[in-house]
Amino acid sequence: MPLKKFLKAHTLYSKKHIRQLLELGKVLVAGYVVIDGNFDINEFSHIVCEDKLLQQKTAYYIMLNKPIGVVSATTDKQHKTVIDCINEDYAKQLHIAGRLDLNTSGLMILTNDGKWSRNLTQPKNQIGKVYEVQTQQKVTQEYVDYFAKGLFFEYEQVQIQPAKLILIDDFNSQLTIFEGRYHQVKRMFARFDNKVVKLHRQSMGAIQLDNNLVAGAYRALTAKEIASVNT
Ligand code: URA
Repeated sequence: MPLKKFLKAHTLYSKKHIRQLLELGKVLVAGYVVIDGNFDINEFSHIVCEDKLLQQKTAYYIMLNKPIGVVSATTDKQHKTVIDCINEDYAKQLHIAGRLDLNTSGLMILTNDGKWSRNLTQPKNQIGKVYEVQTQQKVTQEYVDYFAKGLFFEYEQVQIQPAKLILIDDFNSQLTIFEGRYHQVKRMFARFDNKVVKLHRQSMGAIQLDNNLVAGAYRALTAKEIASVNT
């Protein structure tokens, strides 16, 4: 949003007066004088006008190694939630960027930055999510070729994007998908009547699950990890 629009919405001043305040150097964004009314700000910009704090909100970006049995929801009567795993006073502000099933483990990202999380999860941004998959039956080259073509999901009436499958051994493979449809991985293997018995998310784009995080542990994303998702 342009700074001048924000100032109009958060003060009682006229457009002309706002222009004057900007020219006089009375507006600070992140501690710096900004004179350009079109300067782009967002919900996390620290904004001061005539020494008065108008906006201050911290953006949080968390990586959690989600354990099996923890639910991807903000509240749940029956199970511990991923939010319950975050022992911070801001935990309730967070939302989930890409859910995992109850019995799926691995990389879960939580944030209060809606624009950033949309960019991470929107299929059109082609951000690959890598899963380690263990199946009940053997996985063959036939799966690789089939997934590479992209499947059609009848229920949603949607063509899903080509996915990349790497065979590790007969029962273990690594799958990269580019969207996050409901039970997507399990439904893909179900095409071959093959049940997924273990599912673990290893990465989302350039963000890899940190090996130092045991199940249930979390850490803040680094500046580089945050910047790897375009906003
Ligand atoms: N696909 C699934 O089937 N389950 C998950 O938890 C994630 C992707």
